[in-house]
Amino acid sequence: MKQSVKMIVGNWKMNGLAAQIDEAREVDAVLRSEQAESRVVICPPATLIHRVKMALEGGRVEVGGQDCHAESCGAFTGSASAEMLADAGATLVILGHSERRDAFRESDADVSAKVESALAYGLEPIICVGERSADRDTGRAVEVVTAQVAGSLPASLEGKAFAVAYEPIWAIGTGRTPTTGEIAEVHAAIRQALVDRFGEGGRAAPILYGGSVNPGNAAAILRTPDVGGALVGGASLKAHDFLAIIRAAH
Ligand code: PGA
Repeated sequence: MKQSVKMIVGNWKMNGLAAQIDEAREVDAVLRSEQAESRVVICPPATLIHRVKMALEGGRVEVGGQDCHAESCGAFTGSASAEMLADAGATLVILGHSERRDAFRESDADVSAKVESALAYGLEPIICVGERSADRDTGRAVEVVTAQVAGSLPASLEGKAFAVAYEPIWAIGTGRTPTTGEIAEVHAAIRQALVDRFGEGGRAAPILYGGSVNPGNAAAILRTPDVGGALVGGASLKAHDFLAIIRAAH
């Protein structure tokens, strides 16, 4: 993927009943007519993946999952595997989101195992990292984030398509964002970690910013050095707002 082509990912989280599919339809219809250059992904809850995929068949918007189990099948009540997400029509999956790391106690090693499973079933992983506000306040943001990158990305990503999303935990759903200078500093550190680890291949992976991206701040964030796109939560639920963010990318 050309670095100039931004990747805009909508994370619907645990939101969306059948009626929400109309928002995805609207995003896709507008993008088809506008010839937007950006790569656009919607990650609905698992219950809607197949229906969103069917609704967008042949369109401009790709469909992803929000998490997967590391195993492909078995006695894991309530979980969905990477193979199941792929079978439902997903081609990408968000992994290691801070809400999973926090609420489900996922460690870097757990995230890494999930990435392996995603790759095994042909899903492109979007691997999330991000510091707590206490880490930022004590000047440890870069240290914490680069440690997460080291622990959550398995060696098998070498040569594969993947993205990293930098999401400061204190910025998610709060309306607060880092300055573009702070975003640039962390993205540069992530880029360096990727290049050290994967060589030239580490330059190709887009590094997305996530955390309170909205139509008002998207253009400045997306113009920041080494910001390859955005991971958008709340503002991805309404086609109008999500389209405004996508338009801000070009
Ligand atoms: P937000 O969520 O845009 O609602 O802050 C981002 C995310 O958690 O991916």
